[in-house]
Amino acid sequence: MKAVITGGAGFIGSHLCDHLVAQGHEVIVLDDLSTGSLSNLSQLEGSTAFRFVQGDILDRELVDELVAEADAVFHLAAAVGVYNIVDNPLRSLRINLHGTENVVEAAVKHRVPYMIASTSEVYGKNDADGLKENDDRIYGSPTKSRWSYAAAKGLDELVAYVHGVESGVPCVITRFFNVVGPRQTGRYGMVVPRFVDQALSNEPITVYGTGTQRRCFGSVYDVVPTLTRLMDTPEAYNRAVNLGGREEISIKGLADRVVQLTGSTSAITYVDYEQAYGEGYEDMQRRYPDTSLAARLIGYEPTRDLNDIIDSIVQHRRSAHSVPEPV
Ligand SMILES: NC(=O)c1ccc[n+]([C@@H]2O[C@H](COP(=O)([O-])OP(=O)(O)OC[C@H]3O[C@@H](n4cnc5c(N)ncnc54)[C@H](O)[C@@H]3O)[C@@H](O)[C@H]2O)c1
Repeated sequence: MKAVITGGAGFIGSHLCDHLVAQGHEVIVLDDLSTGSLSNLSQLEGSTAFRFVQGDILDRELVDELVAEADAVFHLAAAVGVYNIVDNPLRSLRINLHGTENVVEAAVKHRVPYMIASTSEVYGKNDADGLKENDDRIYGSPTKSRWSYAAAKGLDELVAYVHGVESGVPCVITRFFNVVGPRQTGRYGMVVPRFVDQALSNEPITVYGTGTQRRCFGSVYDVVPTLTRLMDTPEAYNRAVNLGGREEISIKGLADRVVQLTGSTSAITYVDYEQAYGEGYEDMQRRYPDTSLAARLIGYEPTRDLNDIIDSIVQHRRSAHSVPEPV
């Protein structure tokens, strides 16, 4: 198979590249390197199974040209991270709406099966225990740019779904719940790499809000192999599928765990949401996935617990940046 991966220089996309090349497939990455990095792909340099194209998913002709030669499209390119969305509201909205439309339209035109990466953010402020794929979305006001990512991803799902139904081209929609692991950057607000970096440099760990908000983190190593399996499963077509971990923890609990696992001397401090992200920022108190649909469709069962996940990030950070061991 020849696969096009948009956003392949990013965190999840680069792991998908590794996975597909290891399985003997050919990969073409389209990425503008806005939040991704070529260093995430250095292990594939020189491989004849791999090609990198620097470009923008808003460039319709380029997207069409690359998709035309593919057997499958994995669409992961997006403007991500709270800082990115809040600081660049128009550009991120355009990327997340029109970029996805370009990719889906090209896939349908050339009859290439496609997967789009959606997010648990589509549930908005719904903090039910074990969110199921058909649960309701609860959003704040559209004038709060924080919700633009969730709203755009919800529309992306609709665009992918309607095209999939009308064209008959296989379409898979995955909803990632806080996927973490090596290569994720903390620069745009992602909490686990941010805490790990602060702990490794013995700086204060900054918890946003009260720290009582609860999250559940899934390992990129559990999630990535499911993407090709879902593409091979007709029962998964034209529906959204939740993917995430099992272990729920408060953000304060996460900070404690990172301190404990790194042996850091960091203190834990608290920063108001407004100070961190600007006025009017809203967050959800809880985010926990029901992954029983993925279990039924493809036997999805997370194998890495939170300690494994944090350890893998710590190891990667220490080797990538030669961060000294905390004393
Ligand atoms: N990591 C998570 O927990 C999580 C959760 C929910 C959804 N997702 C979704 O998964 C996908 C991958 O996220 P990630 O965590 O790997 O983030 P990431 O920032 O590492 O990856 C996104 C990639 O897209 C590229 N990109 C951005 N705009 C682009 C454009 N206009 N044209 C071409 N490339 C562009 C970036 O350079 C980057 O390499 C995204 O669609 C994101 O919305 C991730």
